[in-house]
Amino acid sequence: MKSLFSRKPTGPSYNACAVVTGAGSGIGRSFALELARRHGSVVCADINLAAAQETLELVKKAGASGHAVQCDVGKAEEVENLAEKAETFFSQPATLVINNAGVGLGGKFDELTLDDWKWCADVNLWGVIHGCHYFVPQFKRAGQGAIINVASAASYTAAPEMSAYNVTKAGVLALSETLSAELKKHGVKVNVLCPTLVPTNIIKNGRIPGRYSKLADHALMNYAMTTSDDVARLTLNRLDKGHLYTTPQLDAKLFWVMKRFSPSLYAKFLGLSYGFVK
Ligand SMILES: NC(=O)c1ccc[n+]([C@@H]2O[C@H](COP(=O)([O-])OP(=O)(O)OC[C@H]3O[C@@H](n4cnc5c(N)ncnc54)[C@H](O)[C@@H]3O)[C@@H](O)[C@H]2O)c1
Repeated sequence: MKSLFSRKPTGPSYNACAVVTGAGSGIGRSFALELARRHGSVVCADINLAAAQETLELVKKAGASGHAVQCDVGKAEEVENLAEKAETFFSQPATLVINNAGVGLGGKFDELTLDDWKWCADVNLWGVIHGCHYFVPQFKRAGQGAIINVASAASYTAAPEMSAYNVTKAGVLALSETLSAELKKHGVKVNVLCPTLVPTNIIKNGRIPGRYSKLADHALMNYAMTTSDDVARLTLNRLDKGHLYTTPQLDAKLFWVMKRFSPSLYAKFLGLSYGFVK
């Protein structure tokens, strides 16, 4: 007799033909490795080819196949090329895309240059739009597929001195919600990941004002309530179960509830706490 416990886990995160952007570091690398453990084949894409290749080696060590591709997600033609390369490598269209590549940008609104805004929007927002643009038609044609968009708790917390980052992540959240509704009838699952702090290289790789970059990196590395591996595992599990949102940590959940329970009270709390720390 088959026991409940002997049932094999199923869902789009298992045996996937997956494309992960920003796979050379942090959360993207953790996604690639977790997909390898779930018997997937992984195309590791990153603007930094050497970093993508390092992840590929780890994927292979985990017993899976994969391919490394240099891709700047801010450039439409490079993402189109990524989708084509993935299809050639898998000998079929991809079944899962993880639009993860992102950059950190901090500073008061009037300290940010328009070049800062453009840089952040190109990667964090246009990168996700490009990923969805080139993979959604493939998924619709196949009548199946899955998308994970990596947003951030910043998509709803509106934390001060992060205006550009917050705006790009709010866009990713809205896009994911819209796609989830549009694609349900086509058998395509969508999950949007909204974490608070995760220990990765995001501060080191980002444009963060010198006055608090060390402090921010210290907080990220020492006070995060989770790891990138746990975040990747949880998000893939929630995708498999058909959930739209992943808010991995307690503080991410708390801010989510506060913001929705009373947006005005939340805005007052935010202003007061910013005034208090400044
Ligand atoms: N670390 C956190 O606390 C945190 C919290 C919330 C959301 N996020 C989001 O998680 C995602 C992954 O970030 P991370 O924390 O792992 O940072 P990370 O800096 O460790 O990794 C980001 C990766 O993206 C790559 N990348 C940067 N620009 C790119 C581009 N134009 N095209 C392709 N690849 C590019 C980098 O080379 C790097 O390998 C980002 O979208 C980030 O906004 C991170």
